[in-house]
Amino acid sequence: MAAYTLRVNGEAHDLDTDPAKPLVYVLRGELGLTGPKIGCALEQCAACAVLVDGEHTLSCNRAASEFEGTEITTIEGLAEDAIGARIQDAFMAENAAQCGYCTPGIIVAVASLLKSNPGPSDGDISEALADHLCRCGSHNRVLRAVRNAISGGQADAA
Ligand code: FES
Ligand code: FES
Repeated sequence: MAAYTLRVNGEAHDLDTDPAKPLVYVLRGELGLTGPKIGCALEQCAACAVLVDGEHTLSCNRAASEFEGTEITTIEGLAEDAIGARIQDAFMAENAAQCGYCTPGIIVAVASLLKSNPGPSDGDISEALADHLCRCGSHNRVLRAVRNAISGGQADAA
């Protein structure tokens, strides 16, 4: 019998792993969803961000079994989502990454923001991304990509 069940990207998964294992390790190791990254594993870099019931959530430090009964969406699931796909297209168009390690978490944060606020100010964007560290210094391109995702590509033209 499964120890617990998780719903991820619209599918239910029965899991027999240690229920205390943090969610990001289950997503990556058991379900093969390697989009969420393990950076600090201390809730200090946000590389592991996923959506839980639509809310931006760090997955590196909380037991996977705590998420039973929720709907988890990873960067892989966002590719199937209109807002998520629009953001991913804008990031590719703007080449808004260097190593790309921080990028899935950042896109998850932007998706969470745009789902609740389709027209965020620069201050709203900064606040949404405040916990996301990028060691490659891609911040300017990230901001351009986010503005283009919001404006449908008009920000670059302005
Ligand atoms: S890996 Fe989760 S916050 Fe850094
Ligand atoms: S692109 Fe390398 S950490 Fe952000």
